[in-house]
Amino acid sequence: MSILDKLEEISKEGQKEVSSASSLEGLEAARVSFLGKKGKITVILKSLGDLSLEDRPAIGKKANEVRRSIENTISKRKEELESKALEQKLEEEVIDITLPGRCFFTGKKHLITQIVDEITDTFIGLGYRVAEGPEVETEYYNFDALNTPADHPARSLMDTLYTQKDGVLLRTHTSPVQIRIMEKTLPPVYIIAPGKAYRRDVPDPSHSPMFHQVEGLAVDKNITFGDLKGTLEVFAKKMFGADRKIRLRPHFFPFTEPSAEVDVSCIMCDGKGCRVCSGVGWLEILGAGMVDPNVLSGVGYDPEEVSGFAFGMGVERIAMLKYGVNDIRLFFENDMRFLAQF
Ligand code: PHE
Repeated sequence: MSILDKLEEISKEGQKEVSSASSLEGLEAARVSFLGKKGKITVILKSLGDLSLEDRPAIGKKANEVRRSIENTISKRKEELESKALEQKLEEEVIDITLPGRCFFTGKKHLITQIVDEITDTFIGLGYRVAEGPEVETEYYNFDALNTPADHPARSLMDTLYTQKDGVLLRTHTSPVQIRIMEKTLPPVYIIAPGKAYRRDVPDPSHSPMFHQVEGLAVDKNITFGDLKGTLEVFAKKMFGADRKIRLRPHFFPFTEPSAEVDVSCIMCDGKGCRVCSGVGWLEILGAGMVDPNVLSGVGYDPEEVSGFAFGMGVERIAMLKYGVNDIRLFFENDMRFLAQF
């Protein structure tokens, strides 16, 4: 067979293989076998030098024609295969934009945390700083340092949860934070201390063995009972509405003197008397008083130099009043139908 005939045959073969390649990989294999370094056409082109001078031009021309035409066919086939691959990809990845979207559940803060934040923010706005103390406390901080000696009847006012370690208990209020802060800071002191407190109570609509309190303490020169009243009034209006009034009733706490229980005018009836305030027109929201001089001198402050007020409020109680929740246990049962409402 003459070289020209052979070229003709290679050409037909090449055209057929290239145009029937069904994938880009197959096409590349076909290209290599005809046009690659050892490809059928390349081999002929390389051997042109061995040919006689008279055969060379015709065979050279033919070989180059075959090469070019196979190259053309390859690039055409390549385009076809690429657009086919793209079409297939588009088809596979089709997105149905008419499908309804999936709803994601967004978490949010527990109502108690929201109220704690709200109370804290109000006092931060008044220049207070946030303080914290341990929930597992010593008898010293929970009682003694708060002017509540061992034989003091006030100790039995709270049903304390004791640990097995002598003198160690779950704090019954956030007031021990007052002592811990005063012990390590010099006056003036303006702090707000949110946290958990524990009492040995059987859960019922108004009792929970664990609950939250926010403690406040201000100690400075010339702090008066009027400062306490003004501060609590600002707080009550911010929390329950600008029309609210407060009233202070005499009370007893071992660590404050004088002491008071503080009421806010009923948020439901505005003082007229209704079911929420049991007809009284007032709702009790916190305990407060002037820091007892014994407490001040106990932490090394001079009661002749400085004075202070303190207050403590129950967060669950405030949340219940504000949102008309009638059972404290709802806060701890983790029923999303309840929690998601706030
Ligand atoms: N610690 C008191 C209680 O839990 C509340 C209180 C705090 C009263 C600060 C006066 C001053 O009942």
